[in-house]
Amino acid sequence: GLPDEVTIYEVGPRDGLQNERAVVPVEVKAELISRLAAAGLSVIEATSFVHPKWVPQLADAEKLLASMERVPGVRYPVLVPNERGLDRALAHGVTEIAIFGSATESFARRNLNRTVDESLAMFEPVVTRALAEGLRVRGYLSMCFGDPWEGPTAIERVVEIGGRLLELGCYELSLGDTIGVGTPGHVTALLRAFGTAGIGTSRLAVHFHDTYGQALANTLAALREGVTVVDSSAGGIGGCPYAMSATGNLATEDLVWMLHGLGVRTGVSLEPLVETSVWLASRLGRPPTSRVVQALAKE
Ligand code: HMG
Ligand code: MG
Repeated sequence: GLPDEVTIYEVGPRDGLQNERAVVPVEVKAELISRLAAAGLSVIEATSFVHPKWVPQLADAEKLLASMERVPGVRYPVLVPNERGLDRALAHGVTEIAIFGSATESFARRNLNRTVDESLAMFEPVVTRALAEGLRVRGYLSMCFGDPWEGPTAIERVVEIGGRLLELGCYELSLGDTIGVGTPGHVTALLRAFGTAGIGTSRLAVHFHDTYGQALANTLAALREGVTVVDSSAGGIGGCPYAMSATGNLATEDLVWMLHGLGVRTGVSLEPLVETSVWLASRLGRPPTSRVVQALAKE
């Protein structure tokens, strides 16, 4: 069966924009976040408190948090890799963060300048302090299906590192297909392996990039296993600057179209969402990759 309701974890302002070359003005980011909330998204990942040289596009995280609207009932998590990032987030009233680990050594090195073990050691005091401050902490795990340098990722490895992220104190683990190589049978096998290890789908979310056009099929496979939290980005914008061949996330509009077609509630209204992606595309200077946006957008 399928769930009655799915929580869409919108990552457009963070994952979507982090790879944009031209710096997007902070006012545009704030307007994007307001529009997404108005379209009914209840979780909107706003930005990252990472090193500004590593992700220059998000170097305005402080300015954004100081200026953006916060709609009551909407959650606005941010990425935090280390204690310096946590200090910055706490100083700006953040109540929810996400740490982000890697299932492979190659990506841990490129994305965090650490081995997998060193990155977990870096996260530990972040989670401990964040929980003591009353924050919610999500864990991401990248390269859960394959890695551009190492090839396919062993399922046992993903379950092991994912389990360690949850043990640090994360309420949820988001399984990232950073380069979009996964296929539905692999998704099913991975989720069942977590189940066998005692980690049920109530603690798992899925995070698909659509590089190979598999994101929607993979999402459906995950829903059938009981996953009810799905990450996506409005218009399908995005990609990770430290993972070659990564493209945008599963588009939120494509996800909403499928879910509503299946009778699954999301709380999201498609029309203002499509308008938002068309507006953002005009700001970014290129068309949205979402097929649903292309189909529904008016001239
Ligand atoms: P490092 O160079 O090893 O940092 O980078 P360090 O700990 O050695 O510190 C060096 C200097 O940076 C110090 O300054 C720190 O204070 C400063 P100094 O004392 O030399 O003057 N510094 C900072 N400044 C501001 N904010 C900070 C910060 N941290 C250190 N937070 C680090 C290590 C983790 C910082 C770096 O590798 C980094 O920022 N990485 C982030 C990369 C990133 O954001 N990638 C994209 C997000 S992940 C993703 O997209 C995947 C996902 O979507 C899921 C999926 O698709 O799979 C989540
Ligand atoms: Mg991502």
